[in-house]
Amino acid sequence: MHFDIFTLFPAMFGDVFADSIILRAQEAGHVSIAIHNIRDYAEGKHRITDDAPYGGGGGMVMKPEPIFRAVETVLGLKEGEAPPGPIILLSPQGRLFTQAVAWELAQHERLALICGRYEGVDERVRQFLATDEISIGDYVLSGGEIAAMVIVDAVTRLLPGVLGDPAATKQDSHAAGLLEHPHYTRPAEYRGHAVPEVLLSGHHAEVARWRRRESLRRTLQRRPDLLARAELSPQDEVFLRELGWQPAG
Ligand code: ADE
Repeated sequence: MHFDIFTLFPAMFGDVFADSIILRAQEAGHVSIAIHNIRDYAEGKHRITDDAPYGGGGGMVMKPEPIFRAVETVLGLKEGEAPPGPIILLSPQGRLFTQAVAWELAQHERLALICGRYEGVDERVRQFLATDEISIGDYVLSGGEIAAMVIVDAVTRLLPGVLGDPAATKQDSHAAGLLEHPHYTRPAEYRGHAVPEVLLSGHHAEVARWRRRESLRRTLQRRPDLLARAELSPQDEVFLRELGWQPAG
């Protein structure tokens, strides 16, 4: 997977990709990340990248030309040709980023991420350059940079070979539409609080059953909205009903 990130603030990406899983994923050749400064593609002595909005009002708008030029140059886009992968505009108006979207994006060889700033980007970027628009949540950030970092992180850990244990991503919170069960490690008792007995039993089937139930319980308590879309077995449903769950509809 290759990520191209287009931003006015390349320094923001400084160390975030230089540690831990993303660093190792780059070193092992699973991902490469290129940060492109949109300003380098702006014209004139002052390399201006923003301008006042037509129609008046406050704030500044990112100009279209430097963004088109940056993306078209880096991706080698030719008129009439399909781009080598999705061109994603990060904005609070996009479709919501979820684990399902992360899996979807992980299927591509190359992703371009355009970080919006100021009051917004010229609408023509959205209409005629971007092929997708993504928001990481219903709140407004000062720009798309942090959203791009979130997407690179969430997608990278799904790529084959990146995590030591490939099954881990399948057990993640949200992977199966549920929150994950609690985790414990040594010591078996800490400040008088004991680890649930069943986890010490060595009985794999019992452990699996306990984990499934705690995952269901936690999801019901914290994110009951997820249950409507989760894959539930008849046993899951019986257990949830015992906890007072009432399926919608
Ligand atoms: N830019 C500003 N807010 C954003 C959000 N919530 N998601 C993605 N990009 C953004």
